Amino acid sequence: MKTPGVLLLLWSALVVVAAERGGLHVEATDAAAASTQQSYLSEFRAAQRQMIAQMAEQREELRLAKAQIEELKSGAVRPSNVAFSTSFSVKTDKHIGPLKTDTTLLFDLVFTNVGNAYNTTTGLFTAPLKGVYQFNYHIFAGGDQGAGHGAGAKLFKNKDEVVTAYNHVAPHDVNTSQSVILQLQEGDTVSLLLEAGWWVAAYTGHLTTFSGHLLFAVGY
Ligand SMILES: *[C@@H]1O[C@H](CO)[C@@H](O)[C@H](O)[C@H]1NC(C)=O
Ligand SMILES: *[C@@H]1O[C@H](CO)[C@@H](O)[C@H](O)[C@H]1NC(C)=O
Repeated sequence: MKTPGVLLLLWSALVVVAAERGGLHVEATDAAAASTQQSYLSEFRAAQRQMIAQMAEQREELRLAKAQIEELKSGAVRPSNVAFSTSFSVKTDKHIGPLKTDTTLLFDLVFTNVGNAYNTTTGLFTAPLKGVYQFNYHIFAGGDQGAGHGAGAKLFKNKDEVVTAYNHVAPHDVNTSQSVILQLQEGDTVSLLLEAGWWVAAYTGHLTTFSGHLLFAVGY
């Protein structure tokens, strides 16, 4: 009768061990799940923090962009500055003209050319941006001693004549000038044209000048 008792004891022991092992296993599984959950949660929180930081950054960027738009709309900021002032570079006094055809005057002496919008090779000012510009020119010419030359120049916007400065044939030195304010699109050109039969002086004193500048940009 001892054998069944020992067997029972052994079986009981096995059951206990099995139960304990099982219990340990369950505990281990729970712990793993909890730690996985914990790490998901902390990842989620990190992502959340990042998103909140990014949103704050974007709000700040938007605020700055809005402020810049308002500033530009108020016209307080010019996108760039444009100004040129020119004459003829001469070593000895001479006249340009009278010529047989209408000719664009080339002012090759540059006093100022901020923005490089005046081209001395073509004689064209090209508007680098849409805006309102002012142009001035002064024409000096010698008296023609009865040879019949009027003195002057016409200001052109692209292919269109805008204003003229002209002085009739005169026995003595003459001066004539013009000023005009034009609204230009980017790429519009402005130049001075010497009409066929007219002349202008290119004297060492730089008595003939052509200049212009941006008053204000439009649409920025
Ligand atoms: C002036 O115009 C000429 C002819 O179109 C061009 O070759 C030259 O590059 C221009 N110069 C400047 C400074 O833009
Ligand atoms: C035109 O200006 C020049 C240079 O200042 C001067 O010598 C000349 O007398 C002026 N002409 C007239 C008609 O006043």
